[in-house]
Amino acid sequence: MNLNPEERNEQYERQASPPSRRTFLTLLSLAIGAFCAALVGIPVLGSLIGPLLLGAPKAEWRAVGKADGFKVGETVEVVYINPGSLPWAGVSDRTGAWLRRNDAEHFTAFSLNCQHLGCAVRWQAGADLFMCPCHGGIYYADGTVAAGPPPRPLQQYPVRVRNGEVEIHTSPLPLPGFE
Ligand code: FES
Repeated sequence: MNLNPEERNEQYERQASPPSRRTFLTLLSLAIGAFCAALVGIPVLGSLIGPLLLGAPKAEWRAVGKADGFKVGETVEVVYINPGSLPWAGVSDRTGAWLRRNDAEHFTAFSLNCQHLGCAVRWQAGADLFMCPCHGGIYYADGTVAAGPPPRPLQQYPVRVRNGEVEIHTSPLPLPGFE
């Protein structure tokens, strides 16, 4: 029988490795593939389905520092743990706000996130403006839009002082366009 080189190779391989070994290797490959798919797929599925099962995270009061530690007229970044914190979130669970002490008793807290597409805005004390680096969004000191694409003012959080601690009533990360 005349076989071309490819067919000869196949015949040689068939003779060289008995079917049981080939079957074993196929099954082993499938098992490793399935294990790797589960390793990647389960956390992804969990992150998609988890919020549906757990419900929306609730807004909470979070202490961000002693009231005496903030100077009147200054706007500073404060950091706290996200509401709806998940045990495995690590440092990604940390979020923050821009906090301004208006006078001895009153504070204003602004979201860090731009109302256009959610980039982090920076407070520029010299210019008295919040600037967004992504698409040139600019907000006045009171959070209203000065220029650029943001469709609405910066979100503000309620603030209170309890036992000398400034507390911000946090809410889940605002996603522009998904209110
Ligand atoms: S995300 Fe801020 S201007 Fe686009």
